[in-house]
Amino acid sequence: MTDNEKNEMIVTPWEVKGKVNYERLIKEFGTQPLTEQIRQRLAKYMNGEHLQLRRQLFFSHRDLDTILDLYEKGIKFVLYTGRGPSGPVHIGHLVPWIFTKHLQDAFNTRLYFQMTDDEKFVIDDDRNLPDTIRLGHENALDIIALGFKPENTYIIYDVQDIDLLYDIALEVAKRITYSTARSTFGFQDSTNLGWIFYPAIQAAPCFIHKKLTGENVPCLIPAAIDQDPFWRITRDIAQKLGYYKPAQIHNRFLPGLGVGGKMNAHEPETAIFTTDPSELVKQKIWKAFTGGKGTVAEQKKEGADPEICTIFQYFTYLFEPDDKKLSDRNTRCRAGQTLCGDCKRELTERVNKFLAEHQKKREKAKDVLEKFHIKR
Ligand code: TYM
Repeated sequence: MTDNEKNEMIVTPWEVKGKVNYERLIKEFGTQPLTEQIRQRLAKYMNGEHLQLRRQLFFSHRDLDTILDLYEKGIKFVLYTGRGPSGPVHIGHLVPWIFTKHLQDAFNTRLYFQMTDDEKFVIDDDRNLPDTIRLGHENALDIIALGFKPENTYIIYDVQDIDLLYDIALEVAKRITYSTARSTFGFQDSTNLGWIFYPAIQAAPCFIHKKLTGENVPCLIPAAIDQDPFWRITRDIAQKLGYYKPAQIHNRFLPGLGVGGKMNAHEPETAIFTTDPSELVKQKIWKAFTGGKGTVAEQKKEGADPEICTIFQYFTYLFEPDDKKLSDRNTRCRAGQTLCGDCKRELTERVNKFLAEHQKKREKAKDVLEKFHIKR
């Protein structure tokens, strides 16, 4: 395999591989870039520009301008996002959820959160259903720990709550041909039927608000861009069913800790999970791929490259809120004044401090899990 082939970009809801070219994704997926103008428009409601907007970690959207136009005319929107419970939650998953929480606070709006235990069961031959169902409830603790408002947050566990989704999913499924699904998701002859039907289930929460309340309002979906194919097909049929097209705001991927930012479910050392103990976090960060040189002497002389450094990305995405300090870190790294060990130690401290808090909140969440479960 050539280097080019190894690095070839693949971004689907089930696989993200190679060096991700976000400009190319905007073109290929047909989304809109999140321009300065629309960021400012959103920032007006968010108490100043949120870190994830300012640093352009959210970089693309569909119909966010329409959502804001409607909002300004007095038509509210609901938020919708989700999780496929395939294992413990990693820190990258928190990126869209933290932003979703800020949106919930800023717009005082309802959030539907889908836990796709069904999806993770059908797409993987080795997983059994009781496990993904159990993981769904465990992962929900991470959502609750982020501080979502119980009165405004509705977690849907697909298997348990299928009665709420099934009629909507059928209406959706009836209007999407196999040919569209195959070209959107790359289904093959060997793809099982559960997987082929699944996109209709992920579409359903876009429209559930009307069923529950009678109000027809649009939904806004904050998520990484890998989920976009679901919305492409849902948007095509939304109006036929009498709904608004679901809108999206897309974030980039927090890289893994492996070489070139690789994060792989089968290599747990490439991701930091919210349940990791502090010693394990330390080991993972210590082994992480950086932009450093082979020897200390070389690095002091020539400097290192924060662009390709996974540690620097963790500071950028979540662990250095101060822009000036982030930019100083970048300058010192390039000048060889800060060594990789220094950054790794600081990051370890910050991640562990964050996780200690998060883990406490996660424990407390066990007492209120049911409060967040969708009400009928
Ligand atoms: P899942 O569990 O793969 O991912 C959960 C959310 O995290 C985003 N994400 C990331 N964001 C930043 N950095 C990363 N490295 C990273 N990896 C994943 C995903 O885009 C997602 O937003 N099918 C979905 C579950 C789902 C859903 C939804 C997601 C159902 N309905 C509506 C978003 C919106 C899934 O398996 O997500």
